[in-house]
Amino acid sequence: MSDVLNRIAELGVVPVVAIDAADHALPLADALLTGGLPVVEITFRTQAAAEAIRILSHERPDLIVGAGTVLTPETVKTAVDAGAQFAVAPGFNPRVVQAARELNLPFVPGIATPSDIEAALECGLRLLKFFPAEALGGTKLLSALSAPYRHTGVRFMPTGGISPANLEGYLALDTVAAVGGTWIAKKEDMAQGNWDGVAGRCREACARAHVTRNSKR
Ligand code: 3PG
Repeated sequence: MSDVLNRIAELGVVPVVAIDAADHALPLADALLTGGLPVVEITFRTQAAAEAIRILSHERPDLIVGAGTVLTPETVKTAVDAGAQFAVAPGFNPRVVQAARELNLPFVPGIATPSDIEAALECGLRLLKFFPAEALGGTKLLSALSAPYRHTGVRFMPTGGISPANLEGYLALDTVAAVGGTWIAKKEDMAQGNWDGVAGRCREACARAHVTRNSKR
């Protein structure tokens, strides 16, 4: 895996954020950094995504900034031009994977089936987003799904329905590198400027990840 994806695996938690206003980018970044979680996935589901990535990559070099919901090769280029250091998608699209490879952008495609995993492995990808994790069947499904592939070194980033109530169950699995989700920085937090709430959820998530990881050793 790339250095950036290895760092994400060390952190264990990726805040996924749909940002409505680029003005929110810097206070968001500062809340994440204050809370001890120097990584963010900004989803391309809002008009402000590219501008927010651009601001963060220039103004907050300590933050690892990624692009989420990257559905087309054009969005890969937009993300790279804005300064994204990694990208994530809900599904596996070979054209998007190829575009990311051509631009040297570490890419985490979404998978939900054994066939998806094999397609991703064939492209040399080793970190895959298990999505939508809870709706698919949670840790039980992920354990069964990953068993035949553990020896390949593939690892997963479950996203979709992750919360403080279930993140430890995922991080306890050997094949899980990190969990992702929107619970850390919600739309209403940003609308209301609840940056302390965001920082607090980062601290809580980091503490839970730390405890789970240490008990695995
Ligand atoms: C994603 O984009 O990865 C998911 O929508 C996040 O899912 P969540 O809102 O359930 O955390």
